[in-house]
Amino acid sequence: MTEEEKIIDLRKKLHDYNYKYYVLSEPAVSDYDFDMLLKQLSELEQKHPELYDPNSPSQRVGSDINQEFEQVEHRYQMLSLGNTYSQEELLDFENRIKKIIDQDVSYVCELKYDGSSISLTYNNGKLTRAVTRGDGTMGDDVTANVKTIKTIPLELQGDDYPAEFEIRGEILMPFSVFEQLNQKRIENDETPFANPRNAASGSLKMQNSSLVAKRNLDCYLYYIPSENSPSDSHEKNLALAKTWGFNIPNHYKKCENINEVFDYISYWDKAKNDLPIPIDGIVVKVDSIDLQNQLGYTSKSPRWAISYKFKAESAETKLIGVDYQVGRTGSITPVANLEPVQLAGTIVKRASLHNSDIIEKLDLHENDYVYVEKGGEIIPKITVVNKEKRADEAKPIQFISNCPECGSELVRSEGEANHYCMNQVNCPPQIKAKIEHFISRKALNIDGLGGETIDLLFQNKLISNIADLYKLRVDDIKPLDRMGEKSAKNIISGIEASKNISYDRVLFSLGIRHVGNTVAKKICESIANIDELIVADFEKLIEIDEIGDKIAKSIIAYFLVPENMQLINRLREAGLQFQMEEKAEAVSDFLNGKKIVISGSFEKYSRDEYKAKIEENGGKNVSSISKNTSFILAGDKIGPSKMQKAEKLGVELVSEQEFLKMIGE
Ligand code: IVH
Repeated sequence: MTEEEKIIDLRKKLHDYNYKYYVLSEPAVSDYDFDMLLKQLSELEQKHPELYDPNSPSQRVGSDINQEFEQVEHRYQMLSLGNTYSQEELLDFENRIKKIIDQDVSYVCELKYDGSSISLTYNNGKLTRAVTRGDGTMGDDVTANVKTIKTIPLELQGDDYPAEFEIRGEILMPFSVFEQLNQKRIENDETPFANPRNAASGSLKMQNSSLVAKRNLDCYLYYIPSENSPSDSHEKNLALAKTWGFNIPNHYKKCENINEVFDYISYWDKAKNDLPIPIDGIVVKVDSIDLQNQLGYTSKSPRWAISYKFKAESAETKLIGVDYQVGRTGSITPVANLEPVQLAGTIVKRASLHNSDIIEKLDLHENDYVYVEKGGEIIPKITVVNKEKRADEAKPIQFISNCPECGSELVRSEGEANHYCMNQVNCPPQIKAKIEHFISRKALNIDGLGGETIDLLFQNKLISNIADLYKLRVDDIKPLDRMGEKSAKNIISGIEASKNISYDRVLFSLGIRHVGNTVAKKICESIANIDELIVADFEKLIEIDEIGDKIAKSIIAYFLVPENMQLINRLREAGLQFQMEEKAEAVSDFLNGKKIVISGSFEKYSRDEYKAKIEENGGKNVSSISKNTSFILAGDKIGPSKMQKAEKLGVELVSEQEFLKMIGE
């Protein structure tokens, strides 16, 4: 076999193994063998760049090049569906149909997936384009991101698919992935997603496709829009698409009449709680493509399909009390303790109340009977209080004024929804959570240390802040419970290794309120060492990309606390990095102070090379166009939305040639 044949063979095998693993859930080879074959393929592809294939299985890992989404027009408009909430409304739907076509109608019922809709185009069996719904007429081209979703075939199976066609579906985040993702976001001081739908659409729009690949999105397909339908019925189309390798689970059902539709609905109203993915209703579609064409569309939606939305399940229960949790940054979250009640397949004992405004809005009183609901959100919420059952003497729930852990007075700043305990230095849960954050994977990633060990060290008074970690010795740790020489040494060498971690991650590790890892990176791109950051004033801070009032104020407040300054000095003495490594020597200052957006594709150098040139010549790369943008370095195929925005804000476009002249090349 030549290397070219080998590449083709490996691609074919890997497409097939991928389909069997992700779509059929029937792995054909072990994970290890799969990884080895993928590695072989990637190595061969690197050797043969002339055999590049945008749909190779190796492309599923995504790339870390920042992309801009081009706005493209949908070939067929992406319409929405009318909603119904009752059997009567579904009967109305059928009556409207019967007025147009006077005959019996059969339907296909499907689950209404609760994610982000997507339109995929295949040319000669290869995925060529993936576009979001957008406004229904134009959407974002998110092909690079979509290629990382393992259940979407990059190449189709069989040979009876149309030469060119579109297929629509929903990009989803399974509950298990959603929970893990939010867990990590909370650990990293990032706002958790409110529900799997937001998480899916947020992930789909990420600029770095290699990060999308890590989000483990899924995709379920449900419709082929076409003037030349592959078959004469929707059900047959789904079955055909399944043979081409699309992920079309068996939940759909052909119903011969509207009563069978009702049965399907009542079945899934219960069974939905056992699904691994979020759904928010049922979609009912006329099965015959001929009848679909006769029925046609209104300006907003097809007359041949409708959705039935499930009522959010709710249950009544009694409020036992309200607990207050103290977060790492001192934020206080009230949590309702409830008498256990069965709701949508689980027993609910607690509900988040988020902040004092929510308690006030609910007008929550002691021992109230409340309704809890699980909407798109995983954490149940209290929707309403049953005031009829309230005892006359019941007192309103008063938000606490002092920290439940250390007793300090709570503060609520203007514009903040949360109350905070300001005793950052001595409040035990804040201290422990700060240390846990400091050692966490995305922060200093200190090997051998975890929540339990931190607790142990804290209980034994060996550490009471992050800088104390650097005083620890093997002999201090060795005698502790469940420890020994080996684990103690492991911890010490992990702590030692943290001294090589870059300044942006050290800055993130400090746990300054509102400074997550993206913000920390942005700060370090503009202010490369901590001494300058300590003295930076409000104006200087808000000039930084993505830093607004709230973050700037929080940074200033952090450095005003003497104990925080002491910590920084001790960490510095311990040897941690407090400045970014020197960048490449500046070549010129031709672009001094210029904020430049790159868009389109270029001939002479790659985008990354142009980005480096901008920096070398004193300019700054910014990702989105604003009135502060100096100019746009515009290559070929610059997206129409970018053009419009540039025109609207009067930002100049500079061609590749003009730019090269500017920097003296
Ligand atoms: S069919 C022309 N089928 O619901 C008909 N849509 O409100 C096209 N959706 O934008 C839609 N599951 O994102 C269809 N089984 C399903 C669906 C489904 C979820 C979403 C889709 C669409 C929205 C309509």
